[in-house]
Amino acid sequence: MLTFNANSRLNKDAVIVFLTEESAKSKKWNFKNLSLSKDILQVISAKQFLANEGEQFPLVRGKQVCLLVGLGKRSDVTKTSLRTITSQAVLSPFLKKLKSIDIVAHEQNEATIIGIIEGILIGGYRWEKYIAKKSAVLSKSICILSVSKKIYIDTIASCAGVNLTRDLVNDNADVVNSNTIEKTIRHIVSGKKNISLKILTEKELKKKGLNLLLAVNKGSKYPPKLIIVNYRGSSKKGDYTAIVGKGVTFDTGGLNLKPTGYIETMRLDMGGAGAVIGTLKNTISLKIKKNILFVCGVVENAIGPNAYKPGDVVKSYDGKTVEVANTDAEGRLVLADALSYLVKNYKPARIIDLATLTGACVVALGYDYSGLVSSDDNFAKKVLAAANDTDDRAWQLPSYNGLKDHLKSQYADIKNTGLPKGAAGTMSAGEFLRQFVGKTKWAHLDIAGTAFVAGPSRMYFGYGATGAGVRLLTDLLKNKL
Ligand code: BES
Ligand code: MN
Ligand code: ZN
Repeated sequence: MLTFNANSRLNKDAVIVFLTEESAKSKKWNFKNLSLSKDILQVISAKQFLANEGEQFPLVRGKQVCLLVGLGKRSDVTKTSLRTITSQAVLSPFLKKLKSIDIVAHEQNEATIIGIIEGILIGGYRWEKYIAKKSAVLSKSICILSVSKKIYIDTIASCAGVNLTRDLVNDNADVVNSNTIEKTIRHIVSGKKNISLKILTEKELKKKGLNLLLAVNKGSKYPPKLIIVNYRGSSKKGDYTAIVGKGVTFDTGGLNLKPTGYIETMRLDMGGAGAVIGTLKNTISLKIKKNILFVCGVVENAIGPNAYKPGDVVKSYDGKTVEVANTDAEGRLVLADALSYLVKNYKPARIIDLATLTGACVVALGYDYSGLVSSDDNFAKKVLAAANDTDDRAWQLPSYNGLKDHLKSQYADIKNTGLPKGAAGTMSAGEFLRQFVGKTKWAHLDIAGTAFVAGPSRMYFGYGATGAGVRLLTDLLKNKL
């Protein structure tokens, strides 16, 4: 549980005190002009604690532990370092057995408080459903000293969306299948008067001709779904933003089967849809005053006698025929039909899609930046501003007409792979999508690298899903449009 209080007596099991190198040197504490207590001054004077970035020093005061935590130089504190250091502090072995903690921030501005809350709630999250021994940071009672109620409530709400996304991405693909995704969404929107739900079932998808989406799901035992949530947060007519997620509940690669070493984490492949669902939750709890379509294309790219085949030509919803050059380039097929269906039937003012779309994005940008491709520089700037403000980072890659040449097929209107392997795979995947949005303002976030931590922890994320895109989208919808 996370609370806040302007007047704690600092008498909990533990106190975490954040200090910059400057505050350690000047021996002043920024909190309510309190002077630092004698035992802290002693440690600082003896140079046992310098407040270097990430440094921890536990002071034992009888039953209480006072954990001094260094942030480094004030000018070097970043959004990421603050979150990372906060998460390391609440996860500190020195506090392992302690249940109630007061946190004294080094500063009281909004960005600092948001950073600390996210460090606790996002950095303290661990995927432990199938582990007997839980680390249980989030079951501690943590109190942040002096914070405005609005920031506190909104930030906690927004972290809940991030962690919902992570739960959905982390769990087994047979637990989070197309039916349970539908149920989760129904549960989130149930009883909300300003929300309507449209779910295209297999039968309707067939009737309407979303054949690309259907083709990808052919090998699966679960039904395909296109889920469209219509959220009316504003009475202003016409101006809809659509956010669209790739929801491949498991990506085997299809008959172009993924090899060992690549296939193990492919339950992450509904990370785009997961982010859409987390953002939907946040939009409702923050009462965002915009009109928004939340859209998930949910399928499984499985193998078996019914699976679609390399070389197949499939007619898309928008009429173009597509050569399936590779069954593992399935995400763009699902999204292409979802995008053109939205453009034709809902005419949103702008669309942003999120997808764990290409391994090439990991090659280009690594794990800390999502790849952004956009046909509209003005819209892209807003997306980048939201990314920057929320520490949910993104970096733009070029999008231009010439890329289209690489998608030419010998026997269909377009094919689903572009340049030769190893060359700009994220950009050509983006270019494929762009062929299905017409003139609608569009941005695409490739979260293949950012959505999941498969190796050692990174920044303030432990193993598994990070909820990439949720903070970015929540801020974009709330503050930037
Ligand atoms: N879901 C994968 C992309 C991916 C790879 C996500 C690694 C997360 C981590 C996507 O469907 C895929 O398989 N893309 C292919 C495209 C290729 C066949 C043109 C890829 O990246 O290799
Ligand atoms: Mn694939
Ligand atoms: Zn995929």
